[in-house]
Amino acid sequence: MSSEELSSSITDWFFFNSWWLLLPFVMLLVIAAFIVAFVLLLYMISPLISPKPFKLNGAHVVVTGGSSGIGKSIAMECYRQGAFITLVARDETKLVLAKKEVEKCAINDKQVVLCISVDVSSDYGQVESVIKQAQEKLGPVDMLVNCAGTSIAGKFEEVDMDRFKKMMEVNFLGSVYPTRAVITTMKERRMGRIMFVSSQAGQIGLFGYTAYSPSKFALRGLAESLQMEMKPYNIYVTVAYPPDTDTPGFVEENKTKPLETRLISETAAVCQPDQVAKIFVKDTVQGNFNSSVGPDGYMLSALTCGMSPVTSITEGLQQIVTMGLFRTIALFYLCSFDSIVRRCMIQRERAKAADKRE
Ligand SMILES: NC(=O)c1ccc[n+]([C@@H]2O[C@H](COP(=O)([O-])OP(=O)(O)OC[C@H]3O[C@@H](n4cnc5c(N)ncnc54)[C@H](OP(=O)(O)O)[C@@H]3O)[C@@H](O)[C@H]2O)c1
Repeated sequence: MSSEELSSSITDWFFFNSWWLLLPFVMLLVIAAFIVAFVLLLYMISPLISPKPFKLNGAHVVVTGGSSGIGKSIAMECYRQGAFITLVARDETKLVLAKKEVEKCAINDKQVVLCISVDVSSDYGQVESVIKQAQEKLGPVDMLVNCAGTSIAGKFEEVDMDRFKKMMEVNFLGSVYPTRAVITTMKERRMGRIMFVSSQAGQIGLFGYTAYSPSKFALRGLAESLQMEMKPYNIYVTVAYPPDTDTPGFVEENKTKPLETRLISETAAVCQPDQVAKIFVKDTVQGNFNSSVGPDGYMLSALTCGMSPVTSITEGLQQIVTMGLFRTIALFYLCSFDSIVRRCMIQRERAKAADKRE
């Protein structure tokens, strides 16, 4: 055998016996191709699982807690888009003032703002009856915004026991009652949007919120269950998670915050109600289940998505991809919050010891 023949037969032998070395690369290519095809397919069917479009122009929107803060800004945003508004709150004077502000946002002379004074947390019969009156005047409710709420901060052992009950009554039952009052008509009409205004404290439990947080976490459970029941009726539920927002309610809450809660809160910026309202209204109209504000809010919503519904493939994919990274960042936040709590405790104990010595 010549040397050329020998080298050629060695090359042949090498190719025949080493093709398997390429196998991992081929398999990787096939897997990558499958993933790309799968993602493309998901994007193609995305419009099929997304909620049908909903228009605010001419719609009847009921906003509980619409006389102040975030609720008032939500009412103004809906009015700017041509909606008819029912404002619900207890204080009649505040309601009248808010009505005037909302009316300034009109885009046509047919729009109407109706005011209803009721405590949304006291009695279901009463809430049902006022919602009925509103529907008689402005037509069936197309969108309900459950924004009436209140907060209190304080250390667990220092919060009055009746405040725990109050939080659940106003923040949880105060959302259940109006929702129950509109849902039958929405189901009959096979359309509707319901927004529950929770809080970032309804996504994470923080120092000082043992009474407030559970009432806001409860809204998430309500919303998830309700969404599963309502989806076949083309009714979409949104849970909105406001960050700290500059409102009269926020000013009141600040008066009760322990030092730890204040220091933890200060790690994030305070938002403006109009900015927050714009995002919540847009997400509710689109039928998105989660509505959050800013990068912190986005991270929290992705981290706490659990088994919550998705309304777009993009949202689901983003959650899958970002989960690990966001958990890592969250662990750093948790460490820094724990360290704030520890430092405050040490400071207090030193101050106590100094007092005793004097
Ligand atoms: N601002 C923030 O930083 C922040 C952060 C996270 C979550 N949130 C949530 O966002 C929502 C709005 O907060 P906000 O800061 O805008 O509060 P706000 O300025 O105090 O406004 C609260 C509104 O709810 C009404 N309301 C309270 N209790 C009610 C009841 N039992 N029945 C009927 N209406 C009632 C109030 O009117 P009357 O008092 O006249 O009834 C007012 O219109 C609340 O659910 C709050 O928990 C706020």
